[in-house]
Parts: sequence; C-alpha cells; structure tokens
Amino acid sequence: MGARVAVLASGKGSNLQALLDDPAVRPSISLVVSDREAPGALLRAEDAGVATIFLDPGAHEGRAGYDRALLDVLGVENIEHIALAGFMRILSAELVRAYEGRLLNIHPALLPSFPGAHPVRDALEWGVKVTGVTVHFVDEEVDHGPIVLQETVAIEPGDDAESLHARIQEVEHRLYPLAVRLLVEGKLKVEGRAVHVLDDA
Ligand code: GRF
Repeated sequence: MGARVAVLASGKGSNLQALLDDPAVRPSISLVVSDREAPGALLRAEDAGVATIFLDPGAHEGRAGYDRALLDVLGVENIEHIALAGFMRILSAELVRAYEGRLLNIHPALLPSFPGAHPVRDALEWGVKVTGVTVHFVDEEVDHGPIVLQETVAIEPGDDAESLHARIQEVEHRLYPLAVRLLVEGKLKVEGRAVHVLDDA
C-alpha cells in the first residue's frame, strides 16, 4: 500500500495505536500531527518510528492561519489521506475542501445522534439503550459528512461515561483500521450521502 496517510490526534492516541498495530495499515501511516505538545499520540508515533509534528495553535493566527500551516506541512510531506483520531479542533473549510473525499473522522456515537464534544455523556444523559461508533468522511459541518461504517454498542445498567467509552473504544479500534484501509485502497465510493464499499474488505 503506497498511500501516505497523516493521523491528526490531540489525546491519548488509542485509535492511532490501533492503526499502527494493523499490518495492512501501518505502512501507509507517514505522519502524526498534534496540536498538543506531548500527548500520548505523539509518543506512540515516536515509538513506532513514525514522523511527528507538534503544530502549536499559539503560533498561528486563528483557525484559518493554523490550518494553512497544517496544509503546508501536509503538502511538504505529500500526504494523500487524513485520519482524524481525537483531533480536538474544527477544521477550516479550506482544509476540508483540499482533502475532500480523503479525510476521515471517528466519532463515539451513532451519528447523526449526539454530535459534538461530549457524545458519550450526552447519549447516557438522553437515556438511549444503544449508541455506538461512526466513521465518516469530513465535510464542512461538524460530525456531518457521509457515513462509511457504523456499529452499535449497547448501554448496560450501571454504565457511566468511562465504562461506556471503554466498550465504544473496543469497537473503534476494530472499525477505524478497516475504514482507513478501505479508503487508501480506493474502495470507498461516495454518492451523495451514501458511501459504497466497492469490494469485500
Ligand atoms: C475517540 O473516542 C474518538 O472517537 C473521538 O476521540 C476519541 C479519541 O480517543 N473522536 P483516542 O485518543 O484515540 O484514544
């Protein structure tokens, strides 16, 4: 797989780790970018021998300025695809357009339910019986683009945000490597809001 994928992550990086641990995906992970100086994600990338960049939000003017710097970095590194993995910034329209159809996100709920920054807590507070994981293409609206893969996770009596998120993450770690592989292998075809998987995974 010759594709060059950048993973953008702000946090502990367990989804990044799942991508690095998948032998079919690992060779295409070329760069990990973070907006935080030393999150787990950058350390995991260093351990795996993947190039890392800390792009400091304080050093750039607003979202547009930050994302222009990010686009420069991605361009220099010849990045073809982006996987957001807990990247806690909203992307500018310019960046989203530049990577249209080549930019994935993973969200710990069944979109379009519970978009935003606290989907696990929000699902619990709403009292739903089932939530889950969504992998979707990123468009200019937050947590909105065409859905690639979804899987349900049942809410159990006594669940709190931590226990529920832990079970959601088990699913994430299976779904994201599959979705990224399908993307870089050119097996995802978008028709309006529908995403078709062209071949068997
Ligand atoms: C994941 O739950 C992902 O769905 C959300 O942010 C979390 C990142 O977790 N977008 P990690 O840093 O990959 O462990």
